[in-house]
Amino acid sequence: MTKVFNVAKVREDFPILKREVNGKTLVYLDNGATAQKPQTVIDALTKYYTHENSNIHRGVHTLSQEATSAYELTREKIQGFINAPEKESVIFTKGTTDGINLLAFSLGRDFVQEGDEIIISAMEHHSNIVPWQMLCEQKKAVLKVAPINQRGEIILEEYKKLLNPKTKLVSIVHISNTLGTINPIQEMIAMAHEVGAKFIVDAAQSAPHLKIDVQALDCDFMVFSMHKVFGPTGVGFLYGKKELLEVIPPYQGGGDMIKTVTFEKTTYNELPHKFEAGTPNIAAGIATSAAIDYMNQLDWNAVHLHEKELLDYATAQLKLIDGLRIIGEAKEKASVISFVIDGVHPYDVGVIIDKMGIAVRTGHHCTQPLMDWFKIPGTIRASFAFYNTKEEVDLLVVALKRALQMLR
Ligand code: ALA
Repeated sequence: MTKVFNVAKVREDFPILKREVNGKTLVYLDNGATAQKPQTVIDALTKYYTHENSNIHRGVHTLSQEATSAYELTREKIQGFINAPEKESVIFTKGTTDGINLLAFSLGRDFVQEGDEIIISAMEHHSNIVPWQMLCEQKKAVLKVAPINQRGEIILEEYKKLLNPKTKLVSIVHISNTLGTINPIQEMIAMAHEVGAKFIVDAAQSAPHLKIDVQALDCDFMVFSMHKVFGPTGVGFLYGKKELLEVIPPYQGGGDMIKTVTFEKTTYNELPHKFEAGTPNIAAGIATSAAIDYMNQLDWNAVHLHEKELLDYATAQLKLIDGLRIIGEAKEKASVISFVIDGVHPYDVGVIIDKMGIAVRTGHHCTQPLMDWFKIPGTIRASFAFYNTKEEVDLLVVALKRALQMLR
């Protein structure tokens, strides 16, 4: 199949982009928080509830068989999407946060002991800080933080200094949700492996922007959410190397994750079901297939070029605004731009430009330690997807200038 990319045509696939907000056509620049959904994903959700609704892995009846097949097909599609060696290494979760909590619990139980060290970075989302803090508190382990430079890049020499034989785990964000920095994750994984540490990649922001290949990266675990990858909310994935997933204990107990249960003893199900207790978000799991199909039919070289053009154009245009300072100017950067403007609060700017139909996120972006490091209360963040356009950047700039006239 010929892969295509045409922004105007792509926008037709996302019905919400046609709606008006406060009397203006929506300019949606909050893709870092959640991405919009193509009609095919919306249709898949409706189709499931209209024609297929039933529980999975439990019934001999036709509906259950159909739903189970559709759900398991998604697992195979995700296997392909991240190039996992086998489908048993792909675990359904509720999302990135759920995946990290699963790992903190399951790796934490036997793998992390008193005095062991876990490394994260200064740009982590709260979801990649708090679960590790909770584990360290419980196990008397030590949480270390790899520092960053003024451009918002991890200082690799400092990261290297933190690594030592006591380092059990490293958990690092692939693309910063706040700064847009693309971390040199492959190099960082190789460095961690030299001291025998396991490496977790938080791919929440990279899955919608980069081609993901867990085998090429050689990461031990990876987590991401589908709602940022143009799919439904409430479903995400954990990838783990099979030999590691085999030996770590399950996260939650309940139906589907067991082989046998007596009051004396329970034996656990095989991978991947060992980590999938309870009825999941079946509709979202099934509709995920449509999101992956959508991603797969795009020409990703063209998408990357388009997103790079948007990033460069928006960066240049924003810098022309008096008093505007971009937070995060890494050499390797995805289409996420955070900025502050002298004399105005991000929140006020966000509220005013919303009146002009423009959706951005303002605040600390769930990265309070990063805000403290930059000594700012928060930023205004424009995060772009492939369906955004230069015209939308222009509308953002006009709206910001009008907001500044009102606020200054
Ligand atoms: N992590 C999401 C964001 O950056 C919610 O907005």
